[in-house]
Order: sequence, then C-alpha cells, then structure tokens
Amino acid sequence: MTKITFLNLGNQPLANNYLTKKNINRKEKKYQLNVCLDKKTYLVSIKKTFPSKTMFNNKYPYRSSMSKTMTQSFKRLASDIKKKFKPNIILEIGSNDGAFIKNFKKNKTIGIEPCGNIEKITKKLNYNTFSEYWSKKLAKKILKKFGKIDLIYSANTISHIKDLKEVFTAIDIVLSDEGVLIIEDPSLLECLKKNTYDQFYNEHIYVFSTIALENILKIHNLEIFKIEKLDIHGGSNRYFIKKSINKRRINNSVSINKKNENNFGLKKINTYRKFANRVKLSKLTLNKILNKIKKNNQKIIGYGATAKSTTILNYCNIDVKKIEYFLDTTKDKQNKFTPGTKIPILKYNNLIDENVKYIFLGAWNFKKEIFKKEKSFIKRGGKFITHTPFPRIL
Ligand code: TYD
Repeated sequence: MTKITFLNLGNQPLANNYLTKKNINRKEKKYQLNVCLDKKTYLVSIKKTFPSKTMFNNKYPYRSSMSKTMTQSFKRLASDIKKKFKPNIILEIGSNDGAFIKNFKKNKTIGIEPCGNIEKITKKLNYNTFSEYWSKKLAKKILKKFGKIDLIYSANTISHIKDLKEVFTAIDIVLSDEGVLIIEDPSLLECLKKNTYDQFYNEHIYVFSTIALENILKIHNLEIFKIEKLDIHGGSNRYFIKKSINKRRINNSVSINKKNENNFGLKKINTYRKFANRVKLSKLTLNKILNKIKKNNQKIIGYGATAKSTTILNYCNIDVKKIEYFLDTTKDKQNKFTPGTKIPILKYNNLIDENVKYIFLGAWNFKKEIFKKEKSFIKRGGKFITHTPFPRIL
C-alpha cells in the first residue's frame, strides 16, 4: 500500500444530492470520507469513490454561469488564449452551461459535458457539444470529425475523474504536437494553508499539487510549462501543459511553485497530520461560535448551498437547529434540502430577512462578490461567519 490516510471527515452523503420534499425521509447513500496521500506520487485523493454516473448525470445541479467571478475569469482567459495561442479550434472538457466556450465562435469550439440536463443548454444554442464522459473512445471520435486539436481547456473537471490514465491518454490522442493543454483546479497548497477541508467530497477525487500533477503527467509524456495562480475557489492553479517533444520554454513559475510546495512540506506526511489536527480544531471552534449565537437567540442562515458546505455541515453536525435555512441562486437547488443535514434551501431574491444578523458563508470562495452584493446587510450590522482560514465572525 502506498497510500496513507491522514484525514477522516466522517460519514457523508453525496455532496450534490439535494433532497426534495418528497424524498427527504428516504435513506440517503452515505460513505466514510477519508483523505489519503500517495507516498510515491504525492497525489492527495479521497479513499472511497463513486462511479461518474452516480454523480454526473441528468440531475446535476451545478451551473458555472451562476457567479460573476467565474464568468469574468473565463472571459479574461478566452481573450488571453486568442491573443497568445491563436488556436484554430478549442476543446473544453467539462463545458457545463457554456460559460467558457460562449466566448468563442460556435464553429471554433467543442464542448464535452456528460450531464445531459446541462449539455442541453449549449446544444440548443448550436454549439458542438457532446453529452459523453471524456474517454479514449470519445477522443478518437473527435479526432475523426475535427482533426487534431491545438488547445484543450478543462476547469475544475480533471480532479473529478478517477481514471487519470484514461484522461491523459485521451488528451494525448487529440492534442497536436504543438498544442497546449490548460487545466485549472484548486491548489492543495492553498487548501492546506487555508484549512479549507471542504474541498474534499465525493466529486473532488483529487486536490492537485504541482508536485503530484507533474508526476502523473510525466507518465504520459506531458510537461507543465507555466503556472498561473488564481483566486478562484479559494486559490487555484492554472497549469499550462505541453507534450514533452514540444520545445516550448519552461517558465520560472513552475520551479517557484514546486519550491513553495516543497518548503511547506507537501512531501512530508507530518504536514498532512498537522492539517488534520487543524481540521479537528476548526470543527470545535465553528460549533462554539454557532452555539454562542444561538444561546443569544439570534438567527443564523447560510449563503450559498455549495457542495463544499455539505462536507462542513455533516462533519460538524450542523443542522436546522443551528442554521435555519440557506439562500442560493441556483434554481435546481431551491426548495430542496441540504444532503444529510436537511437544512431548507430557499430562493435568493436580493433581500435578506430583517431578522437575520448572522450568515454562514457556504460560498466562501465568492466572498468578494458576495460582500459587494450584500452591502446593505453589512451596513445594518449584519455579520458573516466563515470557517477559513479559521472559524470566525467577519
Ligand atoms: P461553488 O462554490 O461554485 O461550488 P461547489 O458547489 O462546487 O462547492 O458554488 C457556489 C454556490 O453558491 C452555488 O450554488 C451558487 C451559490 N451562490 C449564490 O447563491 N449567490 C452568490 O452570489 C454566489 C456567488 C453563489
């Protein structure tokens, strides 16, 4: 066994399985959420995984376009790509509702989105989208229809796919020798620094570090040539990757990133054990804060019923006794209940109830955007509660 388990986040439901009024009393599928480190590659992953079909199907609720932060980030990247790489055609793995590909001409993009309910959105607008899982078979089909691809992009998707060998072999099939692969995912270093243990749930099979990703890519003759640090999702890395045979210059950012990760101790198990201790403390402190507020008979609600908050709520045993309801802008989550903890999710309609003084930030990763939007709540003395980097009232 090369894997060492360092964190146990308890019994958890599937993070995006929001309950309906009808099925709220049905037994939920649950699993032990353990997180482990591979001693050989330093890849951090969750131990128990589920088949893609269980998680990414016709009922998937997540929409990339729901946040301005995301749509603006995609827009900026699209403009950069057009200028720097001038690709003939772009393939996106995990195109969701088209938030990224909408920045390009329809005949210049191919989108892969296995969740049929979401792929429908881009198909209706006449984009070349495939409602299929990314695989060698699909890569061959695309190669036949469109030829070699010179730019492949994938945001917050590769970390959701268990079989990385299949992912990168398929990429190798369609990527041209001069082509560029850009992937972005939450950074393990930032996750450990900010104690955002809620990055771990059934869909986030991996949280990548540069060190680990490089070890995986090597097997497939792929190489990182540049890394951009992003604020997205609490700190992400955007990796620019090329085929090893391609002579593109390797930017300093790669060695700087690896050095920072090494200095933080990402190759030492003790670093992960210390993180696990901080997580335990985080649970205690968050509950202390919530209990104190409830003792004073104050109302607490949640903002953003994120998949991430499923981990927090279930790990910390937070239910309706502490958080009365969540507000969320996603239609497919509204009038449903949080998985496991059964907290109602209500429609956000620009107004926060006058009686609410405290809001738990489920969507902490969009803090800036939310604070801008909720100026009047803050003005009237309303407070946000966060768990990162440590639980506190902001
Ligand atoms: P996100 O953090 O992107 O992902 P995940 O579910 O993978 O953890 O989800 C953000 C959620 O927060 C999404 O359900 C939309 C919601 N949201 C709001 O309700 N209001 C907002 O202003 C923002 C930015 C997000």
